[in-house]
Amino acid sequence: MRQLRSKSMASASHSRNHIFKKERLKNLFNAASVLFYTVFFTVLFSFYLLYHPRSTVNYTTNINQEYNQTTVFTQPYKNDSRSCNLFKGQWILDERGSLYTNFSCKTIPYKRNCFLNGREDRDFLHWRWKPDQCELPRFSPETFLSTLRGKKMAFIGDSIGRNQMESLLCLLSTVETPKEVYKDAEDLFRTWEFSKHNFTLMAFWSQFLVTATERVFNGSATGGFDLQLDKVDQNWSKKLHLMDYVIFSDAHWFFRQNYLYESNNLIGCVYCQAPNVTDLGPSFAIKSAFQAAFKEINMCKNCKKIFAFLRTFSPSHFENGTWNTGGGCNRTRPIVREEVVGRDSDWEFKNIQVEQIEMARKIGEYKGNRFEILDITEIMVIRPDGHPGLYWGNPWMKGYSDCIHWCLPGPIDTWNELLLEMIKR
Ligand SMILES: *[C@@H]1O[C@H](CO)[C@@H](O)[C@H](O)[C@H]1NC(C)=O
Ligand SMILES: *[C@@H]1O[C@H](CO)[C@@H](O)[C@H](O)[C@H]1NC(C)=O
Ligand SMILES: *[C@@H]1O[C@H](CO)[C@@H](O)[C@H](O)[C@H]1NC(C)=O
Ligand SMILES: *[C@@H]1O[C@H](CO)[C@@H](O)[C@H](O)[C@H]1NC(C)=O
Ligand SMILES: *[C@@H]1O[C@H](CO)[C@@H](O)[C@H](O)[C@H]1NC(C)=O
Ligand SMILES: *[C@@H]1O[C@H](CO)[C@@H](O)[C@H](O)[C@H]1NC(C)=O
Ligand SMILES: *[C@@H]1O[C@H](CO)[C@@H](O)[C@H](O)[C@H]1NC(C)=O
Ligand SMILES: *[C@@H]1O[C@H](CO)[C@@H](O)[C@H](O)[C@H]1NC(C)=O
Ligand SMILES: *[C@@H]1O[C@H](CO)[C@@H](O)[C@H](O)[C@H]1NC(C)=O
Repeated sequence: MRQLRSKSMASASHSRNHIFKKERLKNLFNAASVLFYTVFFTVLFSFYLLYHPRSTVNYTTNINQEYNQTTVFTQPYKNDSRSCNLFKGQWILDERGSLYTNFSCKTIPYKRNCFLNGREDRDFLHWRWKPDQCELPRFSPETFLSTLRGKKMAFIGDSIGRNQMESLLCLLSTVETPKEVYKDAEDLFRTWEFSKHNFTLMAFWSQFLVTATERVFNGSATGGFDLQLDKVDQNWSKKLHLMDYVIFSDAHWFFRQNYLYESNNLIGCVYCQAPNVTDLGPSFAIKSAFQAAFKEINMCKNCKKIFAFLRTFSPSHFENGTWNTGGGCNRTRPIVREEVVGRDSDWEFKNIQVEQIEMARKIGEYKGNRFEILDITEIMVIRPDGHPGLYWGNPWMKGYSDCIHWCLPGPIDTWNELLLEMIKR
């Protein structure tokens, strides 16, 4: 099933390690960075010991010469696709660029169309994800659509889940123009049909997965929510019987001042600083919400066998401030892992999500459900160059950067390559 293109060659781009040395030194006082630093060089070192340099490859791309690749290694070839960890690897140069452009894909949402909104650098499109132990095949829309013939796939969650759905839509549009068959007034729910391939793609807005109502204080919305942690959001759960594949995506909204309920009783809050209410933290809320969602899948009576993915925490990259204090993200290429510091909470949220999916997997096996993790956190933490930054075209918020969502086309397209690869396994 898997297409392994050529004898796998891993090219390690050590030459870019030095590029951010300055910033690294600045951050070295941080204990976390020392850890990353140590781990990084241990890994690097064992790499050197295990594999012998073979030859020199020069990438003739339009990318800066300092990315000259100087070492190529031959890896032991593993022909067991399951043994290859898709999520451990590195970004390497690839002159091919993306499968689609803002011209060929007609459905890119305006605020993700970075080129339309003035972004000029394009080098960020010329990187592909290379797992250490195998190749990640370039996205094949034909393979995707033929593998999922007769199936329905739903993206359930927040705007980043929607972001991935829009990427998939563009990738698939290269072989069949989809037909929009449903859209609500607020564009929170959408359904697209690829009728030639009998494939349906759906988006469900559900920023908490569980029932949520915005808190209103003295007549105005507060931005915080009341979450019923034991009641899943009917907006998606009532359609669960239609779905074959679901991709859950949620986390960012849990950092608001939310109030948490179980069996209609207030049990605590997140960041509320209210007297007599325990702050249980975002982790607790995330854990409970995913638990409820997975339980819904495993308890569902009239559902098909469902293949559920949890897309892990998508890192944001504001630098020199937060979104509303002048922070931005204007890098134009990936960073190296040693530069990743102060991200402890990202890993914490990811670990909670992983724990929940593993619990669901044990229960779901009996019913033929599958639960997998689309583990993009570490892959994307080194891609601060993939966000719209200033180029998201919002005339009311000029000067503010979007360092949370991802440009289309852009590195988020890789998520769908990973998704297809996991479905094929
Ligand atoms: C890139 O590689 C070529 C050929 O190996 C070499 O001539 C050139 O100096 C290198 N450029 C840099 C910036 O290292
Ligand atoms: C990998 O294994 C598959 C069957 O398991 C086989 O058909 C294929 O030829 C193998 N590929 C290589 C490169 O050994
Ligand atoms: C695509 O991006 C270019 C800039 O690279 C822009 O001039 C053009 O208007 C965009 N087209 C569409 C359809 O978004
Ligand atoms: C599309 O797929 C569904 C579900 O597998 C199947 O019931 C239906 O007959 C298919 N429709 C066509 C036109 O093949
Ligand atoms: C379900 O969707 C509607 C909009 O169609 C929205 O008003 C409602 O709040 C959503 N329910 C939940 C639990 O988010
Ligand atoms: C509620 O709003 C009214 C008028 O809009 C204002 O006079 C009052 O102080 C507000 N109360 C609180 C607690 O903010
Ligand atoms: C907090 O709890 C105490 C004791 O139960 C009670 O006397 C007090 O009124 C409560 N305060 C608020 C703001 O609910
Ligand atoms: C943040 O500040 C550093 C040093 O002052 C600068 O090099 C970098 O470009 C800034 N980043 C952004 C996104 O403004
Ligand atoms: C990013 O922005 C900072 C300050 O706004 C500027 O100094 C820096 O040159 C920018 N970097 C790039 C790569 O444009």
